[in-house]
Amino acid sequence: MEVFSKSPFHTVPARRFTQTRLGTSASVPRSAPSFPSSPSTNYQKPTYSFQNSQSDFTKAALTRASNYLLGVYARPGFVLSHGKGSYVWDTEGRKFLDFSAGIAVNALGHGDEGVAKTLAEQSGKLLHTSNVYHNEWAGKLAELLVNLTRTEGGLGYSAGDTNTAGANPKVFFASSGTEANEGAIKIARKVGKDRWAAASHGRAWDSPECSKLRIVSFEQSFHGRSTGALSLTNSPKYQIPFRPLLPGVDVGKLNDFDNLNSLVSEDTCAVFVEPIQGEGGINTASIGWLAALRKRCDEVGAVLVFDEIQCGIYRAGTLWAHSTFPRECHPDIVTMAKPLANGYPIGAVLLRDDIAQTMTAGTHGTTFGGSPLACAVGYHVLSRLSEEPFVSHIAEMSTYLIGRLELLSRWFPQILQPGVRGRGLILGLGFKDEKHPGLLVNMARERGVFVLTAGKDAVRLVPSLTVSKEEVDVAVDVIESCLGEMQT
Ligand SMILES: Cc1ncc(COP(=O)(O)O)c(C=O)c1O
Repeated sequence: MEVFSKSPFHTVPARRFTQTRLGTSASVPRSAPSFPSSPSTNYQKPTYSFQNSQSDFTKAALTRASNYLLGVYARPGFVLSHGKGSYVWDTEGRKFLDFSAGIAVNALGHGDEGVAKTLAEQSGKLLHTSNVYHNEWAGKLAELLVNLTRTEGGLGYSAGDTNTAGANPKVFFASSGTEANEGAIKIARKVGKDRWAAASHGRAWDSPECSKLRIVSFEQSFHGRSTGALSLTNSPKYQIPFRPLLPGVDVGKLNDFDNLNSLVSEDTCAVFVEPIQGEGGINTASIGWLAALRKRCDEVGAVLVFDEIQCGIYRAGTLWAHSTFPRECHPDIVTMAKPLANGYPIGAVLLRDDIAQTMTAGTHGTTFGGSPLACAVGYHVLSRLSEEPFVSHIAEMSTYLIGRLELLSRWFPQILQPGVRGRGLILGLGFKDEKHPGLLVNMARERGVFVLTAGKDAVRLVPSLTVSKEEVDVAVDVIESCLGEMQT
């Protein structure tokens, strides 16, 4: 398909974005999809067993990993070797359909030729310079992020806004999602100090009396594993071994209007929220609640941060998960990472110009963030993801995948909660028994399909955004067959 193979460095024209809500009847697929009338039983028996048939090569790789790698990951007993599109192969030649996409990272799939070419060309030309010097790609990628945000909506811009007058939002490049969130924490802290000083009759921003330091995050959130980001990640399992963490974090409930005024107070400098929680279970924040949260942040002068590290950059079908939401619920800062360079490490903070002013030379920095290599790849990837036919393809696949998934809770009501969680191609199935998501992930893997758990009770589907209808059919057929086996 031509749209997936454009030359690396083409310029993206500004385009008006059509405001379709993906995965609903408002979307316009090319032809009305048809759905099966009964669940597939084609994959009742496992295709692969990971206990047997390990070659010496695979055994040696697994032994080496167990001997030398820190044991912080519980991984299945096989070794991935290469990939193409939505598929990966292991060192035993087993083929897997990857509906995890490196945890919502490989938006253009595996082994993408344009990404590989950009990596090869740019790494041979200029790979790293540090931020002591300018490189051409950091500015180009930042400009593209800002221009796309203006035309497609987000960060205070309505979709279709082509007015480029006025101050520009700014971008800070990092190398991971966690590092992007760390940057956002620091920016919000500094803005909080400025605002406190401005409201405190002549006291300096660096006064030890400053009380505008508290940060709000939400139950089931995930913002990263560094000490700062972990403090906002509301998971006892991740937090308890490493306490004490950052003090002054208040935790609220997603979509709970009742306690917003006490949760977000005059002492709050920042509120971090994922518009669609990924790790926490594909839980969607409602537009009305985000608007109330925005209003409360404005009342007390708190910086509103949307962590779109998992749900942003077209994963939810639009540039940002909040792109088509009313401006009244837009954030001051958006953090991003995962798909921006299709797996080459990159993270970024996008912030409104008025709050960017506080970050002057020397207030923040990084060695690797904004490298010419990461940004050249990011520019290439974002240029392709933002092309209209590509965005339409996501809408079409989302509609089809949701259509197939919606049948599952009707066919397996004893196992599944009703409905499908999420939007675009960040989708979840809720289970009634918390043991079942892990079981389904293992069963699907034995049948050659990778899916992920999310939170305590969900299975998450985040395929590459290039996924085809045929691949959706295979993945859902496998899930149906597994659910059928679980039911017996
Ligand atoms: C919403 C969200 N925020 C932050 C992070 C942390 O990103 P990284 O693993 O790139 O540091 C993740 C990772 O899964 C995430 O999903």
